[in-house]
Amino acid sequence: MNYARNAWYVGAWSHQVEAGTPFAMKILNERIVIYRQANGTPAALEDRCVHRMAPLSLGRCEGDRLRCMYHGLLFEPDGRVAQIPGQEIVPPKARVRAYPLVERHSWIWIWMGDQALADPELIPAAIGLDHPDYILGHGHLDYAAEARLINDNLCDFSHLTYVHAKSFQTGPDHAESLPRITPLKRGIRFERWVRNVAARPGRSKQDTAPTDNFGGYDFLLPGVLLMWSGSFPVGTADFYKDGAPDYTKAIEGVTFTSQAVTPMTDRASRYFFSWGPHRDHGDEVMRDGLMQLAGMAFEEDKIMIEAQQRVIDETPGAQIMPIAHDKGVTLFNRLVEHMVRSEGTATATT
Ligand code: FES
Ligand SMILES: [Fe+2]
Repeated sequence: MNYARNAWYVGAWSHQVEAGTPFAMKILNERIVIYRQANGTPAALEDRCVHRMAPLSLGRCEGDRLRCMYHGLLFEPDGRVAQIPGQEIVPPKARVRAYPLVERHSWIWIWMGDQALADPELIPAAIGLDHPDYILGHGHLDYAAEARLINDNLCDFSHLTYVHAKSFQTGPDHAESLPRITPLKRGIRFERWVRNVAARPGRSKQDTAPTDNFGGYDFLLPGVLLMWSGSFPVGTADFYKDGAPDYTKAIEGVTFTSQAVTPMTDRASRYFFSWGPHRDHGDEVMRDGLMQLAGMAFEEDKIMIEAQQRVIDETPGAQIMPIAHDKGVTLFNRLVEHMVRSEGTATATT
């Protein structure tokens, strides 16, 4: 698996990890159990007991600790064994790996790499479900495909014209024009204006006036998309010279979506997503409509990507042929490769 390790991966929605119930997850082929300590703070441990390898996710939460329910070893949140029934001495090597974890933006983020580098500042600035300015719906979807293919998909929106012809009814513009792409330290920025878009029936505020529509997103390591869109008076695209606008100047339609791709195994990924309007531009009804649309659209992606994975697996050695729209894909994959290489070097020298 070729993924950066020194990054925060989304392990779960906060609400998926309930008090008293250990939650099993796999990230980068590693079994992880997430559970809540007595005060609600989550902890993440290797999901494999040091005794005879039973999963700790079948265990029992006891205050801040987690007990393996096979033969009763009790684990501290830092992975040390606190107690072994039937013996006085706990050997110092009796411990499982504990993963750095931060609960933020309604997600539980897990650091998969060097613990000394686990800096919470590197957590992408998503918007949580409890944010006062946004009305967000949410969900997750499991793919029988490697995460890289989903990352590739999210770094090239030209597919909207084809894959999402039914759901989003995207016109030819996404395929015919290229977004502005800017490399960031830990990701890629995509910006796209569509000028002078005719008013649609059912538009909420400025009724008949055409608009300049903006959609922009950052796609950040290890695979997190943060996207805003909105409609602005005609001329705004020129005013901002095709760059990102001030969202408070939008006439209508400001929405936010965050999406996170977590590689579970070589052929399994979990795709977490939220989407909804800014409070000034929509309500719960609009959010539910967007979620329904997202449900359709994400299913369209899943069908295509899982089928693509099957073709890839059946034809080892076949080469891809990049096109103009692959620029973002290529840049992001290079960034990942660079991280993987530098992490390998760091491991070798320590
Ligand atoms: S396998 Fe966990 S206590 Fe025996
Ligand atoms: Fe898509």
